[in-house]
Amino acid sequence: MKLDFDGIPVELGPLETSNLGNLLSTYLDCNKVIIVDENTHDACLEYLLLSFPALQNAEIMLLPAGEENKTMEVVFQVWSALLEYRIQRNDLILNLGGGLVTDLGGFVAATYKRGIDFIHIPTSLMAMVDAALGSKTGIDVNDVKNAVGTFTAPKAIFIDPTFLETLPAEDIFNGFAEMLKHALILDEPYWMRLKALNNDAELIASENILRSIQLKKEVVESDPHESGRRKLLNFGHTFGHGLESYFLSRKPIDHGHAVALGMIAEAYVSFKRKALSFEAYQEIEHVLIAIFPMPPIPEEAFEEVMNHMKNDKKNAGNSINFVLLKAPGSAEINAELSEKEIGEALLHLSLLARNSN
Ligand SMILES: NC(=O)c1ccc[n+]([C@@H]2O[C@H](COP(=O)([O-])OP(=O)(O)OC[C@H]3O[C@@H](n4cnc5c(N)ncnc54)[C@H](O)[C@@H]3O)[C@@H](O)[C@H]2O)c1
Repeated sequence: MKLDFDGIPVELGPLETSNLGNLLSTYLDCNKVIIVDENTHDACLEYLLLSFPALQNAEIMLLPAGEENKTMEVVFQVWSALLEYRIQRNDLILNLGGGLVTDLGGFVAATYKRGIDFIHIPTSLMAMVDAALGSKTGIDVNDVKNAVGTFTAPKAIFIDPTFLETLPAEDIFNGFAEMLKHALILDEPYWMRLKALNNDAELIASENILRSIQLKKEVVESDPHESGRRKLLNFGHTFGHGLESYFLSRKPIDHGHAVALGMIAEAYVSFKRKALSFEAYQEIEHVLIAIFPMPPIPEEAFEEVMNHMKNDKKNAGNSINFVLLKAPGSAEINAELSEKEIGEALLHLSLLARNSN
């Protein structure tokens, strides 16, 4: 299955039969660098190298796994290693991994020697349905998620669901959070389908991955630089980033998990504003709580979460914006959040956590 995603070729299907071989042959005399993290080194690299002998001589750059490593220090080490290996501007980087590798590897490629070509081969569900798509690269600074980054397009994206066979269950659920988000903001029939799934195998079926790619494609193409409609994709992320940043220096929670908590909070505010019906809100909360554990959110945390939300790069001026949900499949951007609403929604999450533990 081939798609044009805002001018970038995206292929969904087995790597061996993809166009990757042809693309690599256009970089015949160039150095190739494969960026992996510890887990994709062990679980994914061999499959890639066996499929494409042209990559046997590639330099392998090994990143430490985990969000806490999406930092400038790691970027600096990769830049230094690229210099050491004499990687030139016409060479090629292949990012083989989850969102950490595609975000950080994309950032490295976008900035090294003012930008060299790169290809994404996402290996986590999160990266397949979200992180590798849309040309955003980035790293975290201190506790601020994606504080620094660029909009830079890869040459191509190759999505092979075979990689998901080794992905741990919690990481399947992380990607699932973004798929549920796509459904809730844009596509009610997709929401109905996702909430009725029975097991992981159904969840990672190619038709679901494809539907999420199509929905993200439609939104990104209508607003590549996030000046309007693309902000729909931020549903769950206003609270999600605040919570993720709060937990980063304590007991980190995954991005998808934080987005799921954020979706509960933002659906709650939407319901309190009478934009979303009680029944729809209850159903969304019920579906999300059944999948994602509720971490304790003590009341002392509220102020810090709020400060992180104020620091979010998605804000314009002093206001904190969020996506208002009107019904499954329908949402509105640029709704302004008051501090009172934030406090109420965090209290609601905190009570949900207390009741579920
Ligand atoms: N750029 C964007 O538009 C965008 C969108 C969404 C998320 N993100 C970013 O993506 C990141 C989260 O992505 P993620 O959940 O993929 O995180 P991740 O890259 O840390 O991967 C999660 C875990 O799965 C492991 N893994 C990945 N593929 C594997 C495989 N096939 N087999 C075994 N283990 C495997 C990784 O090593 C890691 O331990 C966050 O940093 C988030 O900010 C970016």
